[in-house]
Amino acid sequence: EIENTLRPRRIDDYIGQNKVKEKLKIFIEAAKRRNESLDHVLLYGPPGLGKTTLANIIANEMGVNIKITSGPAIERQGDLAAILTNLEENDVLFIDEIHRLNRNVEEILYPAMEDYVLDIVIGKGPSAKSIRLDLSKFTLIGATTRAGLLTSPLRDRFGVICKLDFYDVENLKKIIIRSAYILGVKIDEDGANEIAKRSRGTPRIANRLLKRVRDYAQVVEDGVITKSVAQKALELLEVDEMGLDNVDKRLLYTIIYKFNGGPVGLDTLAASTGEESNTIEDVYEPYLLQLGFINRTPRGRVVTKKCLDYFNIKLDELG
Ligand code: ADE
Repeated sequence: EIENTLRPRRIDDYIGQNKVKEKLKIFIEAAKRRNESLDHVLLYGPPGLGKTTLANIIANEMGVNIKITSGPAIERQGDLAAILTNLEENDVLFIDEIHRLNRNVEEILYPAMEDYVLDIVIGKGPSAKSIRLDLSKFTLIGATTRAGLLTSPLRDRFGVICKLDFYDVENLKKIIIRSAYILGVKIDEDGANEIAKRSRGTPRIANRLLKRVRDYAQVVEDGVITKSVAQKALELLEVDEMGLDNVDKRLLYTIIYKFNGGPVGLDTLAASTGEESNTIEDVYEPYLLQLGFINRTPRGRVVTKKCLDYFNIKLDELG
Protein backbone atom coordinates (compact mmCIF):
# COMPACT_ATOMS: atom_id res chain seq x y z
CA GLU A 1 0.00 0.00 0.00
CA ILE A 2 1.15 3.57 0.70
CA GLU A 3 4.17 2.42 2.70
CA ASN A 4 5.30 0.43 -0.30
CA THR A 5 4.67 3.15 -2.82
CA LEU A 6 6.95 5.46 -0.84
CA ARG A 7 9.78 2.99 -1.31
CA PRO A 8 11.74 3.56 -4.51
CA ARG A 9 11.83 0.56 -6.88
CA ARG A 10 14.90 1.53 -8.94
CA ILE A 11 18.39 2.24 -7.71
CA ASP A 12 18.44 5.60 -9.48
CA ASP A 13 15.41 6.69 -7.44
CA TYR A 14 17.09 5.72 -4.18
CA ILE A 15 18.36 8.92 -2.58
CA GLY A 16 21.66 9.13 -0.68
CA GLN A 17 24.03 6.30 0.38
CA ASN A 18 26.05 7.15 -2.72
CA LYS A 19 29.01 4.87 -2.04
CA VAL A 20 26.72 1.88 -1.48
CA LYS A 21 24.74 2.65 -4.65
CA GLU A 22 27.89 3.06 -6.73
CA LYS A 23 29.26 -0.32 -5.64
CA LEU A 24 25.97 -2.17 -5.99
CA LYS A 25 25.32 -0.80 -9.47
CA ILE A 26 28.62 -2.21 -10.70
CA PHE A 27 28.20 -5.60 -9.03
CA ILE A 28 24.61 -5.92 -10.29
CA GLU A 29 25.62 -5.00 -13.84
CA ALA A 30 28.54 -7.46 -13.76
CA ALA A 31 26.39 -10.32 -12.47
CA LYS A 32 23.73 -9.60 -15.08
CA ARG A 33 26.23 -9.53 -17.94
CA ARG A 34 27.63 -12.88 -16.82
CA ASN A 35 24.14 -14.25 -16.27
CA GLU A 36 25.06 -15.20 -12.73
CA SER A 37 23.51 -14.68 -9.34
CA LEU A 38 24.80 -11.64 -7.48
CA ASP A 39 27.23 -12.53 -4.70
CA HIS A 40 25.72 -12.55 -1.18
CA VAL A 41 25.23 -9.06 0.28
CA LEU A 42 25.30 -7.96 3.92
CA LEU A 43 23.63 -4.62 4.68
CA TYR A 44 24.20 -3.14 8.12
CA GLY A 45 23.31 0.05 9.89
CA PRO A 46 20.75 1.55 12.29
CA PRO A 47 17.03 0.77 11.77
CA GLY A 48 15.02 2.74 9.22
CA LEU A 49 17.84 3.65 6.82
CA GLY A 50 16.51 1.57 3.92
CA LYS A 51 18.02 -1.92 4.13
CA THR A 52 14.77 -3.65 3.12
CA THR A 53 14.22 -1.06 0.41
CA LEU A 54 17.68 -1.75 -1.01
CA ALA A 55 17.11 -5.51 -0.96
CA ASN A 56 13.93 -5.03 -2.98
CA ILE A 57 15.74 -2.72 -5.39
CA ILE A 58 18.56 -5.24 -5.88
CA ALA A 59 16.07 -8.00 -6.76
CA ASN A 60 14.17 -5.66 -9.06
CA GLU A 61 17.36 -4.53 -10.84
CA MET A 62 18.52 -8.14 -11.19
CA GLY A 63 15.11 -9.05 -12.60
CA VAL A 64 14.58 -11.86 -10.09
CA ASN A 65 12.09 -12.78 -7.36
CA ILE A 66 12.65 -11.82 -3.75
CA LYS A 67 11.61 -13.91 -0.76
CA ILE A 68 11.55 -11.90 2.46
CA THR A 69 11.94 -13.36 5.94
CA SER A 70 13.74 -12.63 9.21
CA GLY A 71 16.16 -14.35 11.58
CA PRO A 72 13.64 -14.94 14.37
CA ALA A 73 11.00 -16.23 11.91
CA ILE A 74 13.19 -19.17 10.85
CA GLU A 75 12.97 -21.40 13.87
CA ARG A 76 14.09 -24.78 12.53
CA GLN A 77 16.42 -26.14 9.88
CA GLY A 78 13.34 -27.41 8.05
CA ASP A 79 11.93 -23.86 7.79
CA LEU A 80 15.07 -22.66 6.03
CA ALA A 81 15.25 -25.84 3.91
CA ALA A 82 11.70 -25.20 2.69
CA ILE A 83 12.56 -21.63 1.72
CA LEU A 84 15.85 -22.51 0.00
CA THR A 85 14.46 -25.40 -2.02
CA ASN A 86 11.69 -23.16 -3.37
CA LEU A 87 14.04 -20.50 -4.75
CA GLU A 88 14.48 -20.18 -8.50
CA GLU A 89 17.77 -19.55 -10.28
CA ASN A 90 19.38 -16.24 -9.17
CA ASP A 91 16.52 -15.32 -6.80
CA VAL A 92 17.12 -13.12 -3.77
CA LEU A 93 16.50 -14.38 -0.25
CA PHE A 94 16.32 -11.44 2.16
CA ILE A 95 16.84 -12.26 5.84
CA ASP A 96 16.22 -9.27 8.09
CA GLU A 97 17.76 -9.32 11.58
CA ILE A 98 20.03 -12.07 10.36
CA HIS A 99 22.05 -11.91 13.60
CA ARG A 100 19.04 -13.49 15.36
CA LEU A 101 19.19 -16.78 13.41
CA ASN A 102 19.59 -19.73 15.70
CA ARG A 103 22.83 -21.70 15.53
CA ASN A 104 21.33 -24.86 14.01
CA VAL A 105 19.78 -22.88 11.23
CA GLU A 106 22.91 -20.81 10.68
CA GLU A 107 24.97 -23.96 10.21
CA ILE A 108 22.97 -25.20 7.24
CA LEU A 109 23.22 -21.75 5.73
CA TYR A 110 27.02 -22.02 5.35
CA PRO A 111 27.12 -24.78 2.66
CA ALA A 112 24.01 -23.25 1.07
CA MET A 113 25.80 -19.92 0.65
CA GLU A 114 29.12 -21.38 -0.37
CA ASP A 115 28.25 -24.33 -2.59
CA TYR A 116 24.48 -23.99 -3.10
CA VAL A 117 23.84 -27.30 -1.38
CA LEU A 118 21.73 -28.26 1.55
CA ASP A 119 23.04 -30.87 3.97
CA ILE A 120 20.25 -32.15 6.13
CA VAL A 121 19.99 -35.01 8.56
CA ILE A 122 16.84 -37.07 8.41
CA GLY A 123 15.80 -39.18 11.38
CA LYS A 124 17.47 -39.70 14.73
CA GLY A 125 19.93 -42.10 16.33
CA PRO A 126 21.57 -44.99 14.44
CA SER A 127 19.12 -44.83 11.54
CA ALA A 128 19.75 -41.11 10.93
CA LYS A 129 20.78 -40.32 7.38
CA SER A 130 22.53 -37.33 5.95
CA ILE A 131 21.31 -36.19 2.58
CA ARG A 132 22.61 -33.50 0.27
CA LEU A 133 20.28 -31.51 -1.98
CA ASP A 134 21.41 -29.23 -4.78
CA LEU A 135 19.95 -25.74 -4.69
CA SER A 136 19.50 -23.14 -7.39
CA LYS A 137 22.12 -20.42 -7.31
CA PHE A 138 20.71 -17.59 -5.23
CA THR A 139 21.71 -14.32 -3.55
CA LEU A 140 21.38 -14.06 0.20
CA ILE A 141 20.87 -10.50 1.37
CA GLY A 142 21.27 -10.24 5.12
CA ALA A 143 20.40 -7.17 7.17
CA THR A 144 21.51 -6.34 10.67
CA THR A 145 21.94 -3.27 12.83
CA ARG A 146 25.61 -3.98 13.56
CA ALA A 147 27.96 -6.22 11.54
CA GLY A 148 29.69 -7.14 14.80
CA LEU A 149 26.58 -9.03 15.90
CA LEU A 150 27.22 -11.72 13.27
CA THR A 151 29.37 -14.76 13.92
CA SER A 152 32.54 -14.57 11.86
CA PRO A 153 31.83 -17.69 9.75
CA LEU A 154 28.57 -16.10 8.64
CA ARG A 155 30.08 -12.66 8.05
CA ASP A 156 32.93 -14.20 6.03
CA ARG A 157 30.49 -15.74 3.56
CA PHE A 158 29.19 -12.40 2.30
CA GLY A 159 31.04 -11.21 -0.79
CA VAL A 160 29.61 -7.69 -0.57
CA ILE A 161 29.38 -5.84 2.74
CA CYS A 162 27.68 -2.43 2.80
CA LYS A 163 27.34 -0.04 5.70
CA LEU A 164 24.41 2.37 5.60
CA ASP A 165 24.95 5.76 7.25
CA PHE A 166 22.54 8.30 8.66
CA TYR A 167 21.26 10.68 5.95
CA ASP A 168 22.15 14.35 5.90
CA VAL A 169 19.42 17.00 5.97
CA GLU A 170 19.72 17.70 2.22
CA ASN A 171 19.01 14.07 1.28
CA LEU A 172 16.23 13.74 3.85
CA LYS A 173 14.68 16.85 2.36
CA LYS A 174 14.72 15.25 -1.09
CA ILE A 175 13.11 12.09 0.32
CA ILE A 176 10.41 14.16 2.05
CA ILE A 177 9.64 16.18 -1.08
CA ARG A 178 9.44 12.96 -3.12
CA SER A 179 7.16 11.33 -0.54
CA ALA A 180 4.95 14.44 -0.27
CA TYR A 181 4.50 14.34 -4.03
CA ILE A 182 3.48 10.66 -3.88
CA LEU A 183 1.11 11.34 -0.96
CA GLY A 184 -0.35 14.30 -2.83
CA VAL A 185 0.36 16.90 -0.14
CA LYS A 186 1.75 20.37 -0.87
CA ILE A 187 4.98 21.22 0.91
CA ASP A 188 7.47 24.06 0.47
CA GLU A 189 11.28 23.90 0.81
CA ASP A 190 11.30 25.33 4.33
CA GLY A 191 8.56 22.96 5.43
CA ALA A 192 10.53 19.99 4.09
CA ASN A 193 13.68 21.33 5.71
CA GLU A 194 11.99 21.59 9.09
CA ILE A 195 10.84 17.94 8.99
CA ALA A 196 14.23 16.81 7.64
CA LYS A 197 16.13 18.46 10.52
CA ARG A 198 14.03 16.56 13.03
CA SER A 199 14.15 13.12 11.39
CA ARG A 200 17.26 11.76 13.16
CA GLY A 201 18.99 11.11 9.85
CA THR A 202 16.41 8.38 9.17
CA PRO A 203 14.06 8.13 6.14
CA ARG A 204 11.57 5.94 8.00
CA ILE A 205 11.20 8.67 10.63
CA ALA A 206 11.07 11.39 7.96
CA ASN A 207 8.18 9.62 6.23
CA ARG A 208 6.37 9.03 9.51
CA LEU A 209 6.71 12.66 10.58
CA LEU A 210 5.63 13.81 7.14
CA LYS A 211 2.37 11.83 7.44
CA ARG A 212 1.60 13.29 10.88
CA VAL A 213 2.45 16.83 9.75
CA ARG A 214 0.17 16.26 6.77
CA ASP A 215 -2.66 15.32 9.17
CA TYR A 216 -2.06 18.51 11.12
CA ALA A 217 -1.86 20.63 7.97
CA GLN A 218 -5.12 19.21 6.65
CA VAL A 219 -7.12 19.43 9.88
CA VAL A 220 -5.76 22.51 11.64
CA GLU A 221 -4.31 24.53 8.73
CA ASP A 222 -5.03 24.95 5.02
CA GLY A 223 -3.39 21.69 3.92
CA VAL A 224 -0.03 23.13 2.86
CA ILE A 225 3.10 22.18 4.81
CA THR A 226 5.15 25.31 5.44
CA LYS A 227 7.88 25.89 8.00
CA SER A 228 5.51 27.23 10.62
CA VAL A 229 2.95 24.48 10.04
CA ALA A 230 5.72 21.87 10.40
CA GLN A 231 7.01 23.55 13.56
CA LYS A 232 3.60 23.61 15.20
CA ALA A 233 2.82 20.02 14.23
CA LEU A 234 6.18 18.72 15.44
CA GLU A 235 5.84 20.58 18.70
CA LEU A 236 2.53 18.80 19.21
CA LEU A 237 4.29 15.49 18.46
CA GLU A 238 6.95 16.38 21.06
CA VAL A 239 9.77 16.07 18.57
CA ASP A 240 12.30 18.80 19.31
CA GLU A 241 14.55 20.79 16.93
CA MET A 242 17.19 18.05 16.95
CA GLY A 243 14.61 15.29 16.46
CA LEU A 244 14.91 14.12 20.05
CA ASP A 245 11.78 12.56 21.48
CA ASN A 246 10.73 11.76 25.04
CA VAL A 247 12.70 8.52 25.21
CA ASP A 248 15.93 10.22 24.10
CA LYS A 249 15.40 12.90 26.69
CA ARG A 250 14.64 10.41 29.43
CA LEU A 251 17.88 8.56 28.61
CA LEU A 252 19.93 11.74 28.60
CA TYR A 253 18.34 13.20 31.74
CA THR A 254 18.88 9.89 33.53
CA ILE A 255 22.58 9.92 32.71
CA ILE A 256 22.80 13.57 33.70
CA TYR A 257 20.77 13.68 36.90
CA LYS A 258 20.88 10.12 38.26
CA PHE A 259 24.46 9.36 37.30
CA ASN A 260 26.04 12.81 37.39
CA GLY A 261 26.65 12.80 33.66
CA GLY A 262 28.06 9.25 33.65
CA PRO A 263 29.78 6.96 33.14
CA VAL A 264 26.90 4.55 33.50
CA GLY A 265 26.78 0.98 32.16
CA LEU A 266 24.23 0.09 29.51
CA ASP A 267 22.34 -2.39 31.69
CA THR A 268 22.15 0.04 34.59
CA LEU A 269 20.85 2.71 32.24
CA ALA A 270 18.28 0.26 30.86
CA ALA A 271 17.10 -0.68 34.36
CA SER A 272 16.76 2.95 35.45
CA THR A 273 14.86 4.05 32.36
CA GLY A 274 12.71 0.96 31.77
CA GLU A 275 14.02 0.60 28.19
CA GLU A 276 15.53 -2.62 26.80
CA SER A 277 19.34 -2.61 26.58
CA ASN A 278 19.18 -3.77 22.98
CA THR A 279 16.73 -1.04 22.06
CA ILE A 280 18.93 1.59 23.64
CA GLU A 281 21.98 0.25 21.84
CA ASP A 282 20.42 -0.30 18.40
CA VAL A 283 17.74 2.40 18.18
CA TYR A 284 18.50 5.35 20.45
CA GLU A 285 22.21 5.39 21.01
CA PRO A 286 23.48 5.49 17.40
CA TYR A 287 21.85 8.86 16.74
CA LEU A 288 22.92 10.31 20.10
CA LEU A 289 26.48 9.22 19.32
CA GLN A 290 26.24 10.72 15.85
CA LEU A 291 25.01 14.01 17.32
CA GLY A 292 27.94 13.95 19.73
CA PHE A 293 25.60 14.08 22.73
CA ILE A 294 27.01 10.95 24.34
CA ASN A 295 30.25 9.00 24.28
CA ARG A 296 30.98 5.38 25.03
CA THR A 297 33.85 4.83 27.42
CA PRO A 298 35.17 1.55 28.84
CA ARG A 299 33.29 2.33 32.05
CA GLY A 300 29.99 3.20 30.37
CA ARG A 301 28.08 6.00 28.69
CA VAL A 302 28.78 9.66 29.40
CA VAL A 303 27.04 12.80 28.21
CA THR A 304 29.14 15.45 26.46
CA LYS A 305 29.45 19.19 26.95
CA LYS A 306 27.53 19.60 23.69
CA CYS A 307 24.59 17.75 25.22
CA LEU A 308 24.69 19.79 28.43
CA ASP A 309 24.87 23.00 26.39
CA TYR A 310 21.87 21.95 24.30
CA PHE A 311 19.74 21.48 27.41
CA ASN A 312 21.26 24.56 29.02
CA ILE A 313 22.59 22.60 31.97
CA LYS A 314 25.74 23.85 33.69
CA LEU A 315 28.40 21.40 34.84
CA ASP A 316 28.37 22.80 38.37
CA GLU A 317 24.70 21.94 38.69
CA LEU A 318 25.80 18.31 38.72
CA GLY A 319 27.20 16.20 41.55
N1 ADE B 1 12.41 6.16 1.09
C1 ADE B 1 13.09 5.56 2.07
N2 ADE B 1 14.39 5.57 1.83
C2 ADE B 1 14.58 6.22 0.68
C3 ADE B 1 15.71 6.56 -0.08
N3 ADE B 1 16.94 6.28 0.32
N4 ADE B 1 15.51 7.20 -1.22
C4 ADE B 1 14.26 7.50 -1.61
N5 ADE B 1 13.17 7.23 -0.94
C5 ADE B 1 13.31 6.58 0.19
